[in-house]
Parts: sequence; structure tokens; C-alpha cells
Amino acid sequence: MKASQVLTLPLSAASVISSGKNFASNPVLGSARLNRMGLHRWRVAQASAASERRRARLAAKIRPDEKAQFEAKGFVVRENALPADLHARLVEELETIPRPAWEMRQGHAITRLMPLPGHDDGTAAAAVRRFLIAPDIRALVGYVAGRAGGYNPVIQTIANRPDPANPDPQNTLHADTFHPTAKFWLFLHDVAADEGPFSFVEGSHRLTPQRLEWEYQQSLLATATDNAHHASGSFRASEAEMAALGYGDLVTLPVRGNTLVVADTYGFHRRTPTDKPTVRTELHAMLRRNPFMPWNGADVSEIPYIHDRALDWRFKFRDWNTRRGKPDKYRNVGERYAADPAE
Ligand SMILES: [Fe+2]
Repeated sequence: MKASQVLTLPLSAASVISSGKNFASNPVLGSARLNRMGLHRWRVAQASAASERRRARLAAKIRPDEKAQFEAKGFVVRENALPADLHARLVEELETIPRPAWEMRQGHAITRLMPLPGHDDGTAAAAVRRFLIAPDIRALVGYVAGRAGGYNPVIQTIANRPDPANPDPQNTLHADTFHPTAKFWLFLHDVAADEGPFSFVEGSHRLTPQRLEWEYQQSLLATATDNAHHASGSFRASEAEMAALGYGDLVTLPVRGNTLVVADTYGFHRRTPTDKPTVRTELHAMLRRNPFMPWNGADVSEIPYIHDRALDWRFKFRDWNTRRGKPDKYRNVGERYAADPAE
């Protein structure tokens, strides 16, 4: 253990009951000895059980057909999610008005984020934010996440220029973390089967006995791998492993424009590889909270003053990191149109 890790040991230990997942940077979570004794397995099982208890308290707030879809598959697909006039206004606005943008490159894919305004500035973008955080979608996202709470949607563009020498890590089947957690994408335009749609292994949000044993085995190997994503607690898996874990088929989800997909990304998923250059724009958010807390909601980030400004502050923090030479995966690229191709 490094000297700096000794000093931060109390924090590392406290992260056992947090959403912390990084085996490589946390000497407690990454301890081979503790994981042989079952630390990671305990965290996975406890977080799953607590998420199910919170979901039971949220169940009456979501549509029965969407609850059934989620239980069976691990994701919910809702077509015509935005009111048609709002969808049309937003599409037109994004085509005609450039917005401040931040970009990240992963392999041959560029992810471009544009914050939605936290205050009502009369734009379709602000109206869409209000729609996405209103009680109906909030309850659905909270249920899928296994813990309700606030989230801040962004406009996200994935601009992909295929290059086999520089693969996109999101094309590999993986789970985002060790506990239930939600991501949603409201696709603004059609995404065809050959344009790299979202894929998900049906039922893989469920913690089966086989998955728990697999999690245990991965925890023993996590710090020994040279895959940085795996070592940071986002376990990679092969398609062949899915049946052995008791799961269903890997399904791809081509969608019509204005379709909302909400998925528990503890389930195995990926961006389907494609050999076509593609650009797609979606409204996107993630809800990931400490899975060990017994309650839904009740988080400091939901105080309205903080909630409406959190994205602004986060991107200002990224810019500040860049100015002081600290690496940040997102880079301010000035103003862009949502549909600009990858440069
Ligand atoms: Fe993911």
C-alpha cells in the first residue's frame, strides 16, 4: 500500500457502504484478502436486497405494463415519449441554434454533451428538461435505478467514425457497476439496426446465484487485469458467459425517433458495433446513488437551488480542471450543433 493510501484508509473503508466501485484505486475495495473473504460478494448481495426493498415502495407509482416489462427484461421502452409538438420544437431548435458543448473520445466514438438549461429561458430544451424530471418519468427512472432521486438530463450526441485499430470500449458487453443503477436515452431520431443501437442481455439485471458467484470470481481477478474498465469495477463479460449466468438473449433495440429507453445498467449491455459512420442525438441521464441507504430520494442534490445548477457547476469544474492542467475526460469545444459529425 502506498503512503498516500494509508492516509486515506478511513475514507477507503467507509466506501464499503457507498456506491464506490473502483478496485484499482481503493485499497479496501480492491483488497485480494478481503475479497477472498467475500467483501465484494457481500456488497453485491446487500445492495441488491436493499434495491428490491426500495423498488417495492415505488412500484405503485409506475405503469403496470412498464413494471412488467422491466421485471422480465431489465429495461423499459416507451415510444412517443415526448409530446409530439415538444419533440418537433426541440429537433428544430437543435438544428438551428448551436449550444455550448463538451466532448470525450472513447476509441473511435465521440460523446458530445450539451447541458439542458436549469432555468426556464423559453427554449424547447428547458421545457424538455422539466418534462424529463417530472414525477412520471422520475418514478420510472427511480424504480429502474432501485433508488429514486434527482438526475440532470443532458443532450448527448454519439458521433462514430469506425476505425478497427481504435475500438470503442462501449462496444464490449459490460455492467456499469456492482448494483442496480439507471440510465435513460430518449432518442430524437430513428436508430436503425445497422446504426449501432443499444443492446441488452434480457434478464441480466437479476442477481442469480450464478451471477453472485461470477461477481466473487471477478473480484479476485479485478486488480490483476490490464483492462482499466474492468479494474475500475465495470466488469466486462463475453456473450458466451451470459447463458451460464442464467440470462436470456442479447437483444438490440433499434428505435423510432422520440423513443425513451430506461435500463438498469447493472444488467449487461453495450453499444452495438457498426461499420457505418453514424451521428445520433439523444436526451440522456443517469441515476446512481448509494445503494446501501434504506430510503428513496432525500439527497442533498435534490434541493432545488442545487439541482437546477448542478450541471452548470460540474461543467465549470471541468473547465477549471483543464485550465490548471488536470486531465479531464471531457473537453470544452465551444459551441456546436448537436448533429455535428466527429472531427
Ligand atoms: Fe455502460
